[in-house]
Amino acid sequence: MPWFRKDLISTEELSPEEIQTVFKTTAAFKKILNRKTAKTPSLRGKTVVNLFFENSTRTRVAFEMAATKLSADVMSLDMKTSSTSKGETLRDTVENIHALAADMIVIRHSAPGSAAYISKVLDIPVLNAGDGAHEHPTQALLDCYTLQEKFGSLKGLKIAILGDILYSRVARSNLWAMIKLGAEVTLVGPATLVPREFEQFGATVSHDLKSALADKDAVMLLRIQHERQNASAFPSITEYTRMFGLNKTRLSWLKENAVIMHPGPINRGVEIDSELADSPQSVILEQVTNGLATRMACLYLCSGGKAEALTGSQ
Ligand code: CP
Repeated sequence: MPWFRKDLISTEELSPEEIQTVFKTTAAFKKILNRKTAKTPSLRGKTVVNLFFENSTRTRVAFEMAATKLSADVMSLDMKTSSTSKGETLRDTVENIHALAADMIVIRHSAPGSAAYISKVLDIPVLNAGDGAHEHPTQALLDCYTLQEKFGSLKGLKIAILGDILYSRVARSNLWAMIKLGAEVTLVGPATLVPREFEQFGATVSHDLKSALADKDAVMLLRIQHERQNASAFPSITEYTRMFGLNKTRLSWLKENAVIMHPGPINRGVEIDSELADSPQSVILEQVTNGLATRMACLYLCSGGKAEALTGSQ
């Protein structure tokens, strides 16, 4: 088996086989995490540096925990207090961190293409933890892994992604991954946030919530990304919730045992009724839990680890 790939920048570039390799590795790490000593020596002696130029809770903590569980040394820089505020370029920043003997870099940045750019500059693995509205590959991998765990396969699965699609890196990464795995994806929300252009990527685009939710196996809700919008795409939050917020009535439009997903952070009472976020149909916290093993898998595979080496040792 060849090396998985040096960098993880997008799901657009992954083959269905590579996605399944991530899933197989994730499953192996989930087993390891259930052991009494939930740690492996896979990255012992390596240093993983997390560079988060944008806020994060789940992704940052999951990457830190993942590297720790793999026995790596982990450094997380608060980029708000770094020398980028003194005018240093991103390239100079990462080249200096490389010069300090970092072995892998995890980066979140508001600029689309930033992770791809530094992956070309550096000869060490770079993992994209979210670049602007472009991609968030590990989020999509953990989301699709969660669906595969629930349904056995994504082939033929009918999934609605509801909300701010235009500014969402999660929507883009999930769209690529879900379609590659054989799912049927409908993007739904206000016309200002769900442009018809997405149809060229294989999605169905809808602005009618009832017909879009009908017969779906899963709905993924997205928050409104106010930080990326220059002007409001709808009159008010109250009106958005009235038109597109998931409530009990609208949940009944999906299949009976449909699952509710959300990458977080959730805005209770805006895109989702609070009680639905905590309902038995919600897999929101399972997504978060799967995020740890998924990030372990991605770090391990990009460092040159083989899925077979883990599954063979079970
Ligand atoms: N889903 C996600 O990326 O969450 P954070 O912004 O908290 O990392």
